Amino acid sequence: MKLWDKGFEPDQMVERFTVGRDRELDMALAPYDVEGSMAHIRMLEHIGLLTADELTTLLGGLQQIQTDIAEGRFEIEEGIEDVHSEVEKLLTERLGSVGKKIHAGRSRNDQVLVDLKLFYRQRLKDIAKGVHTVFDILLTLSERHKDVLMPGYTHMQVAMPSSFGLWFGAYAETLIDDLRTVAAAFDTANQNPLGSAAGYGSSFPLDREMTTRLLHFDTLHYNVCAAQMGRGKTERALAYALNAVASTLGRLSMDVCLFMSQNFAFVSLPDEFTTGSSIMPHKKNPDVFEVARSKCNRLQSVVNEVSLMTTNLPLGYQRDLQLLKDVTFPALEEMEEVLSALAFILPRLRVNTAILDDARYDYLFTVEDVNRRVLRGQPFREAYREVGLQVQRGEYRPDKRVSHTHAGSIGNLCNDQIRQKMDAVFAQFG
Ligand code: ARG
Repeated sequence: MKLWDKGFEPDQMVERFTVGRDRELDMALAPYDVEGSMAHIRMLEHIGLLTADELTTLLGGLQQIQTDIAEGRFEIEEGIEDVHSEVEKLLTERLGSVGKKIHAGRSRNDQVLVDLKLFYRQRLKDIAKGVHTVFDILLTLSERHKDVLMPGYTHMQVAMPSSFGLWFGAYAETLIDDLRTVAAAFDTANQNPLGSAAGYGSSFPLDREMTTRLLHFDTLHYNVCAAQMGRGKTERALAYALNAVASTLGRLSMDVCLFMSQNFAFVSLPDEFTTGSSIMPHKKNPDVFEVARSKCNRLQSVVNEVSLMTTNLPLGYQRDLQLLKDVTFPALEEMEEVLSALAFILPRLRVNTAILDDARYDYLFTVEDVNRRVLRGQPFREAYREVGLQVQRGEYRPDKRVSHTHAGSIGNLCNDQIRQKMDAVFAQFG
């Protein structure tokens, strides 16, 4: 059965190729499709296109479908194109011809748009919560290990004293910037496209402000063509958001893999959180962080996929847009998996509290020694040269006291201020 049935059956190949993965992926849109339809018919009643009785009947039918979805009884049947067709078909089967009235003033083009906006809005909020959880864990670890020093590197060479407080806290604070990108995608998704119909509006006096209120959108996409262009734009913003979060979590995972190597041995995991080798009996590998790293790398390619799929599409709906779901839906899932895996494993990390006892890190303290001389009145360049010559001659002996006091340094992490900054960004998700 086709919503657009005109008395002929499309070729099977055309059907299969164009429907693609919709019957499977659209299941995630089902609750939002019903929610969007409820708002649409309330508005149709308000402008006189449905009677109060018809509205009550239709709302009852949609409520029943919503219950079917919640209880796992809803499916998109064989031969039905997508979720929009399934909902209308069920409604008409159960309620009779009144079911055929819900689609007035609407097209599947704005129907799928509104479903996607509601779906993305929710999933971006879930991701924001996941980011917040990982942030909390990292900041707690930063506080807990704030006095444990570790080497800081530049060019992968031993550079200056750092600390686990600084290391964990760095990733926490960076996640705040990533969350700003997620908030931008959330705002982009939080605009009502309903009423744009096929992309050029309708001659019915649709009350688009009313559906905006009913669906708790922040605002509406006023221009009906802009509303249609929102498909692709929302996905692009979402892809940048995933890219931002993934880049930070991927780097963190890389650090952990490196620092768990015996050559570093800065961190370790209890055995049960490592994996083994089929040939080397001693192996305890950090596979969770490796898989997280790979997923994060792959997630960063979503921007490319979405950009290429939407570049140079002409104005108006094109069926190309359907395939964005194939890219964004699994990506959202993958992001949430990474966030929860890291939230699980990070608190299990053990830190090595005696790293700097090893003489290979002695040069970390050369700048401290230079600075102490400067504080005693020696010009910086002279002090630098003297300590440099000591190193050159193999005479350098470190004084391992460190005293960093300025904002954001190892002795003054400002984690409270970082938390306040996070709270302000997180509040944007309502
Ligand atoms: N499955 C379609 C999509 O995701 C629904 C909209 C179909 N509209 C159309 N004009 N064929 O884009």
